[in-house]
Amino acid sequence: MSSTLHQLDQRHVIHPYTNLVAHRDAGPMVLSRGEGVYVFDDQDNRFIEGMAGLWCASLGYSEQRLADAAAAQFAALPFSHMFAHRATPPAIELSAALAGIAPDGLNRVFTVNSGSEAVDAAIKMVWFYNNALNRPKKKKFLARNRAYHGVTVAAGSLTGLPYVHSGFDLPNGAMVTHLTTPHHYRYAEPGESEEAFTDRLVAELRETIEREGADTIAAFIAEPVMGAGGVLIPPTGYFEKMQAVLRENDILCISDEVINGFGRTGEMFGCTRFGYQPDIMTCAKQLSSAYIPIGAVVAADHVYNALEEYSGALGMFGTGNTYGGHPVASAVALETLKIYEERDIVGMVRAREPHFLAHLANLAEHPLVGQARGVGLIGAVELVADKTTREQYPVAQKVAAQVAAACVQHGLILRPTPGDAVAVCPPLIITDAELDALFGALGAALDDVAATL
Ligand SMILES: Cc1ncc(COP(=O)(O)O)c(C=O)c1O
Repeated sequence: MSSTLHQLDQRHVIHPYTNLVAHRDAGPMVLSRGEGVYVFDDQDNRFIEGMAGLWCASLGYSEQRLADAAAAQFAALPFSHMFAHRATPPAIELSAALAGIAPDGLNRVFTVNSGSEAVDAAIKMVWFYNNALNRPKKKKFLARNRAYHGVTVAAGSLTGLPYVHSGFDLPNGAMVTHLTTPHHYRYAEPGESEEAFTDRLVAELRETIEREGADTIAAFIAEPVMGAGGVLIPPTGYFEKMQAVLRENDILCISDEVINGFGRTGEMFGCTRFGYQPDIMTCAKQLSSAYIPIGAVVAADHVYNALEEYSGALGMFGTGNTYGGHPVASAVALETLKIYEERDIVGMVRAREPHFLAHLANLAEHPLVGQARGVGLIGAVELVADKTTREQYPVAQKVAAQVAAACVQHGLILRPTPGDAVAVCPPLIITDAELDALFGALGAALDDVAATL
């Protein structure tokens, strides 16, 4: 149901993540307003936004307090920058609030405008850090296949999805090695237990470090639950064991919390839910409930201290963006964090999680679903042609995309992911009744597509 807004001329838009040829003559789906967990298109058709937009609109679409926080800051001081030791009250308060909820030891905040910029800034900090420590060779990154860390030149290199690299000449080979995706259902050997699978991935990490040299590897970057790669939940013990090897080899751990952060997994940050302690976190999206662009890097004291000292030697920590710490964005993010605290967002997600997981478990019985997985309020169904062998339909058949398109016919927006899965990541304010409606629509869409295969 894509709508055509005849009064708007959309030929001047370069659409991101779009087959520009296939969609050249078709109007995009145009959304014009939102209310709670619902969005409405330009024909006033209502949809449950089952992806919270792009895994981000945690508080839904009509949180007046965020609009008011923006309006008040626009009136007081619509812009000021952070360069050369300037700041604004909301930027300072936001940094303190973020440090206050971050895991112990992560106390230093650098604000940017997006998730990709947060990852890029983290990469630069890691390089600067190793230069500060006089380890000029220790510069490479370890990431995972199917990881999503953004699209800018450096962050895009860390992303482990072919479609982000295809056609773009990203300098990935020189700066990153991608490890095996920690997704037991798809990548375990036949009969391999979760624990044995974890041990194999940890052995791969060890072998990679031995092969490339610990003195060349600066950091490991990981999403706690891999989001855009298909909502992939790590096997038992994975992060704990990986972290032990990283520490032995003096390799920093970056937790990319751009999707996981701020309650999504039922903890404030995914690293806490999965039991590891990063040296750096990258955040964006739910940091402002996506009402305004903002991202942040949260660094541990020991990382920051090296940056501070080295900036003295060089004369500057020479990086920053015009809009980093933008006062209006900071005010909106600060208000978002206040709302999370007042409403106990983590408790809300934990309270909703059993109902969410029960619906997923129910869908696991569907003939088209090989695995239904979830944690907190993020999940996915992975589609298969054969539930026993786990064989999938040919990629070209785009079955997950067909299911997502069928969802739209049932008033639901979801997202197909690589690996023929359909992701579910609703606003965190969703109610049990709205979850019932969401999963009812997804079940109906699965039935529709199954009937055509
Ligand atoms: C884990 C993760 N990191 C980074 C990014 C990039 O964020 P942005 O799209 O704001 O640049 C994303 C976006 O989906 C993400 O999921």
